[in-house]
Amino acid sequence: MRTSSGIWSGTLCLGLGFILATGPALGGDAAKGQGVYAKKCKACHSTKAEEHKMGPSLSGIFGNKAGATSFKKYRGLKGTDIVWNEANLDKFLADPRKFIGKKSGMKSRLKGAENRADVIAFLKTLK
Ligand code: HEC
Repeated sequence: MRTSSGIWSGTLCLGLGFILATGPALGGDAAKGQGVYAKKCKACHSTKAEEHKMGPSLSGIFGNKAGATSFKKYRGLKGTDIVWNEANLDKFLADPRKFIGKKSGMKSRLKGAENRADVIAFLKTLK
């Protein structure tokens, strides 16, 4: 009896560890992310294709190559090989300059892994 319950709690621990380790990136809430976008990103980024403000349009950005829209004023992102997946977006949003390794036109940093996961979930919904 003792051994089998040991196995069960071991399995439970592994399962929980897996959820915690992968949780933040997968657990983003697009509705909350839209609120983050409205407060922190909308001033510079439109979600309409081809509509650029101070920053490039974010339409269809998820899965796209960085610096690849018709936006004319890219700085750090032009000519990089970055593809926008969850991990790259998370690092870029946390600290654009550090992620690109050179000056970026995007100076703002988004604090909080959860805020970033939410806004990334929202970006995924933009076609
Ligand atoms: C002050 C204006 C400004 C704000 C605020 C801002 N950005 Fe940016 N963003 C830029 C500029 C400028 C670039 C181009 C950067 C470069 O080329 O170095 C950019 C680039 C990006 C890119 C890459 C686009 C591409 O075509 O590869 C993403 C994604 C992005 N921003 C997301 C966000 C999100 C999400 C927020 C809010 C949390 C945000 N930005 C807030 C100005 C801004």
